[in-house]
Amino acid sequence: MGLLFIDILQPHYTISYIFSKINLIRYVYIPLNITAQNLYNFHVDLKNKTILLTGATGGIGEAFVQEFAKDGAKFILVAKNQEELNQLVTKISLKDVSIYETDFSDIGKTTNLALQIAKNHPQIDILMNNAGIGVYDNLENIDPKSWFDSFAVNVHAPFIFSKILLANLQKSSTPMIINTGSQCGFKIEETRLAYNSTKFALRGMSLTMAQEFRDKGIKVVLLSFSSVMTNFGPLDIPDKKRLEQNGHKYFRPEYVAKEIVSRIKQDHIEDEMCLIQE
Ligand SMILES: NC(=O)c1ccc[n+]([C@@H]2O[C@H](COP(=O)([O-])OP(=O)(O)OC[C@H]3O[C@@H](n4cnc5c(N)ncnc54)[C@H](OP(=O)(O)O)[C@@H]3O)[C@@H](O)[C@H]2O)c1
Repeated sequence: MGLLFIDILQPHYTISYIFSKINLIRYVYIPLNITAQNLYNFHVDLKNKTILLTGATGGIGEAFVQEFAKDGAKFILVAKNQEELNQLVTKISLKDVSIYETDFSDIGKTTNLALQIAKNHPQIDILMNNAGIGVYDNLENIDPKSWFDSFAVNVHAPFIFSKILLANLQKSSTPMIINTGSQCGFKIEETRLAYNSTKFALRGMSLTMAQEFRDKGIKVVLLSFSSVMTNFGPLDIPDKKRLEQNGHKYFRPEYVAKEIVSRIKQDHIEDEMCLIQE
């Protein structure tokens, strides 16, 4: 199982152009828009860094907590279910951790939580907006609430957290915002109207923020993955394992977290970091 890293030096290359050239490649890491200007030149030592991670109880969130914890990071963990957060803290034996339960589909709750965290934790080094929901329906079948909830969780929550916690991030010497996007942020799946729309929006927001903060010291990174073996979306892990036997490709969340965290530590940080299996 190999991983191929492709450096695209021409900033005008588009994702679809790149994909048209690499259809046969199984594992692809694509740094976008590499120029001397946006190659970041600092090393992130995660020891004692305060990492705020949303969606911590999900498959990808837990894997990132496990990976960041190996380097001695401190955590502020957010998810929808307090009991699952408690279980996660016990399972990983996290020592320096604060947990917060909320429902991001309620924008008032999201805003209040961000204000509470801003007050309780003066400095935040990494904000990882990772919570997400996958509503896979077409226009005819989707109910409006699912559409609005999808935007509230996948787009508005990352916006509100980034906006309200900006001053806390600016207290860090190595501030970073990591947004968990998806291959669905640039590749259309016709049955995924809401999910595609939210991940396209998140991608636009993240890449624009990366530009905005390039000279102001905050690194903004979008992670774009193809399918990962978690309970995300309408299919659970047993369903996905059956699909895998029929040829569908899934990354393991542990692999995704290890790969991305190691690139963060090695200084290989780009506006968009993709892990795609064709
Ligand atoms: N799995 C994939 O194939 C894949 C591929 C590319 C990108 N992604 C992205 O990766 C991120 C994490 O996905 P995952 O695979 O780890 O999914 P997951 O296992 O379903 O985890 C999602 C996390 O988000 C939380 N969450 C969901 N709705 C919430 C809400 N209304 N309020 C607060 N928290 C909420 C969940 O908490 P509860 O469990 O308590 O609801 C859970 O902690 C998502 O942004 C997803 O779009 C996933």
